[in-house]
Amino acid sequence: MIRHFSLSDLNAILKIERESFPKSPYDRMTFIHLHSLYPEHFFVYTGTTSGKEDRIWGYIIFSPEGHIISLAVLPGQRKKGVGKQLLRRAMEVPHLKGLQAEVRRSNLGARAFYLRMGFRIVGAVSNYYGNEDALIIQWTPSVPKSH
Ligand SMILES: CC(C)(COP(=O)(O)OP(=O)(O)OC[C@H]1O[C@@H](n2cnc3c(N)ncnc32)[C@H](O)[C@@H]1OP(=O)(O)O)[C@@H](O)C(=O)NCCC(=O)NCCS
Repeated sequence: MIRHFSLSDLNAILKIERESFPKSPYDRMTFIHLHSLYPEHFFVYTGTTSGKEDRIWGYIIFSPEGHIISLAVLPGQRKKGVGKQLLRRAMEVPHLKGLQAEVRRSNLGARAFYLRMGFRIVGAVSNYYGNEDALIIQWTPSVPKSH
């Protein structure tokens, strides 16, 4: 199930964030701030593991302009369609002109995921992550959404 993030989800989100971005995880205050800025664009995916309901398996947060600030899935729940469903939830937002994200050049898994989801690489920023380049990736709806 996909639902909006609430502050009681914070510890679960921080665990996924640390396991997904060990080099540069966002901290608690950053998520609280992002939630205050974009409460309508912060979603979590909940699933069931061995009978325990409502565990958070992944999340996405993006700006109203379509900039994906973070998207991550718990390592043990990857390759099951969770990321796809979260991204599709973002793609369905009315009035969205498209989605963009930065991905580490070395993040081959995320690159494959985004390309599979219809994104294309539109540029690169040297040393965006200090000592590593970012690739700029973008998705635009095949039928542009009206205002
Ligand atoms: C990238 C990420 C969000 C993908 O989530 P996921 O739940 O594993 O992805 P899905 O299972 O929904 O995969 C959707 C499609 O992408 C493909 N895909 C996903 N991860 C892939 C990988 N590592 N290599 C190749 N293809 C991959 C899947 O095979 C699937 O294709 P299909 O539709 O043909 O079956 C997840 O790997 C992750 O959290 N990575 C660490 C954080 C990160 O890098 N985030 C992105 C940068 S913002």
